[in-house]
Order: sequence, then structure tokens, then C-alpha cells
Amino acid sequence: MKIETYSNSTLLELSQNLHPDFQWGAATSAAQIEGAYDEDGKGLSIWDSFCAEPGRITDASDIRVACDHYHRYREDVGLMQGLGLDAYRFSVAWARVQPLGRGAWNEAGFAFYDRLLETLREAGIRPHVTLYHWDLPAALQEEFGGWESRAVVPLFADYAAEVARRFGDRVASIATLNEPWCVATLGYEIAQFAPGKKDRALAMQVSHHLMMAHGAAVKAMRKVTQVPLGVVLNHTPAFAAEALESDRKAARIDDGLNVRWYMDPIFRGQYPADILDHLGADAPKVEDGDLDLIHQPLDFLGINFYTRSFISTQTPPKPAPGKQGFTDMGWEIYPEALTQHLVRLSREYAPPPIFITENGMANADKLVDGRVADVERIQYVNEHLKALARAVALGVDVRGYFYWSLLDNFEWNSGYTKRFGLFHVNYATQERVAKDSALWYRDFITAFKSRRTPKAG
Ligand code: FCB
Repeated sequence: MKIETYSNSTLLELSQNLHPDFQWGAATSAAQIEGAYDEDGKGLSIWDSFCAEPGRITDASDIRVACDHYHRYREDVGLMQGLGLDAYRFSVAWARVQPLGRGAWNEAGFAFYDRLLETLREAGIRPHVTLYHWDLPAALQEEFGGWESRAVVPLFADYAAEVARRFGDRVASIATLNEPWCVATLGYEIAQFAPGKKDRALAMQVSHHLMMAHGAAVKAMRKVTQVPLGVVLNHTPAFAAEALESDRKAARIDDGLNVRWYMDPIFRGQYPADILDHLGADAPKVEDGDLDLIHQPLDFLGINFYTRSFISTQTPPKPAPGKQGFTDMGWEIYPEALTQHLVRLSREYAPPPIFITENGMANADKLVDGRVADVERIQYVNEHLKALARAVALGVDVRGYFYWSLLDNFEWNSGYTKRFGLFHVNYATQERVAKDSALWYRDFITAFKSRRTPKAG
């Protein structure tokens, strides 16, 4: 394995530049790993319903068992500890702690997260909680049409406040939403994700309700906790394929829909005017006070970065060059976009401290004689860490990096066909095996920390 050649210069750049309290972590989400889909009083989520619809999931799988993390969380925290992680990002399944999304709390559901938090505490790993990673209680979808309805906004705020009240003093941060762009666009415009609709106006209305839910949750949580609060956005910076006016315009729109549509209301209290224009009749209905609600002060911003968008208006479209290759998702590997994008965000928005809450790759991993030689993943992470170090050197305040994902897991509409984990999971036996990338990450973290430790005298 070419580990040494990859990591030395990165280590040097990082150890010189990173914040003294920089956290190294890994991320997961409830629906993708927990399983125990109806155990101990858990309610169903919209992903249970979506998986049950024929043709929605590539391998016709579901999330009933997933990685069985609900029963194996101790082992999984042990894996994190073995890597020397400082931090773990996971999500709470709303329907586990409040089966119908409103009304009665499920104590057995909260007890699971109590056990997980206690195990993390014993392992010295800081928990970063996300409240909504796409698994809306199915009851809210049935009753109100889910995020289509403003009625879900105060319900989400109640749920957020309850989690914050119970766990606020035991966690390192709470993020409201994971990737609202995906919820709205993939769920309501492109129909790749639950609930699988194709209606742009509805998607934009959903995005507005998600933003409101974020703001209402932050407001409600501030009353019960001092813990740092934020949101997690997926940014896929848009690049014009060629120096054509049409490509540039299209890239600007793509950027507007993915980046500014969420950043502007959260950090400036307004939607971007060019995108409102572009949407025309599909723009959401916004009531008085909505934008003030959305525009809450935040303590951190989570950015999930995987790739860039390569925007071409030619027919056929010019393909992305992929000089560093493509991942098993077909996503172009383009780490320099991370540097540029972080610098841009900090100049244009002056955001609070940033966490890279997800970064990682799906790879066609093969388990051979007990080993996964995923050199591509090592290279991917290494290149992105270099890109991160450059952004920090240019003045961006980044406080942590979470690899996506700790484990191979349920990759939404791709089912179990895409492997993102540091640990290989055999879904028949639930056996976890550390990939070479996990060992590399462990050694990297150790080396980073030893460079950081102040020399005596
Ligand atoms: C992100 C999601 C995460 C995972 C990765 C690959 O969009 O937040 O759950 O699916 O992509």
C-alpha cells in the first residue's frame, strides 16, 4: 500500500494549519445503519414505505435490518475507538423516539440513544447529533403529506426541543437538517428519494418548509440547551463546462439552486432574487415572518462535499473530464473544488466555524482473504484533506472532518450496492472488516496527533 507517499505532505500541511481543537470523525445516519425498524415501539419512516414500493431501490432491499447497529452499537463504537476517532456524527430516528411524529414519546427509543451516548462517553468520542437525516415518521406523511405541509414545522421544533432537552448536555453539537436540497429536489422533483414525487413547485415549497423547520427548531432548542447548533448542507459547486455564456448562466442557476437557495435565507434572511426569477410560478409561497424565522444565528455550519457539478448546455452535454477519475457513484473526483468553495463561503457569508460533516467515496471494494485493498479511497481522502488544509491556510475556519461513512450501509435508492465505509460489512453475517483505508485513517490520525503534541521543555 502506498500509504506513506500519500500522507506525509498532507500531514505537514494539516498539522501546521488546523485549529488546535480540530476533530477527526466518521459519520452515519439512522436509517442507513440502525435496522430494528419496528423494534421497541419504533414507528415506521417514509423510507420504510418507499422501499416497499416496487422499482424504487436498485436491489429491491429495505432498511429493516441494515447494519443492525441498533444491536451492535457497542461493537461499532469499539471500531471507532480502534481508529482513534475524536468524534462521531450520527442521526436520531425521529420515529424511534416519537413513533407518530407527534404526541407520545417512546422511552425505549430514547433509551437506545442513552446507551449509545454512554458508550461513546466511555470511549472518549464526542457525539455530533443530526435530528433529521431523511427518515420522516411515515404517520406525518400520511396525515399531512409530510414536508408539503407547514403543519410539520412546529412538530419538528417540538421533537428538536425534546432531543435537545434530554441530550443537550451530553453531545458536542446538534444539527437540525441533513441536506435539505436532497430532501426537496431528490424527494419531490426527481423522485429518486422518498417520497418519490416529481413536481418542482412542490419541491420548492418543501424546501421552504424545511428551512422554516430548521429555524423553528433552532429557536426552540435555544430555550433548553447551550450546545452548539447548526445545519448540514450538501454543496456541489457548479463549474461551467466551457467559456460559453450559456454554460456560465446555467452554472450560476445550478449554484443558486444548490448553494444560495439554502445559504441565503439561513445567513441573510432572503432568497436569491435570480433564483426566484428563474423559478417563476414554481417559487414557494412565503408568508410574513417566515424569513425571520429561518434566519437564526448559528454556531456552526456543516458542509457535505463529494464532487462538483460540471454544467454543459451543449447537445450532447460535454462530459466532466474526470482527470482524477470517478467514484463508484459516477461522481467526478475533483478535490480542488473543496478549497475554492470553502474560501468562497467564508468570503461571501462569513459563516460560523465549518465542519466537513461528510466526505468520502463509494468504491467497488473487494474483500479478498480478509482484506480490502481500497487504495482509491485512501487517495480520495488524502487529496481532500490536502484541499481542506489549503482552505484553512487561506483563512477558512474548519473545526472537524467526518469521513462518510464509518460502515458500508444502505445507500438510499442504490440499496446495498454502493460501499462507502471505512469498514466492510458482510450483510449476511454482519461481520465488519477494517478496510485498508480504515487502517490508513487510524495511522494518519495517530501521526497527526503526535506532530501536534507539544514537545516537553
Ligand atoms: C449524502 C448523504 C448520506 C450518504 C452520502 C453518500 O448525500 O447525506 O446519507 O448517502 O450522501
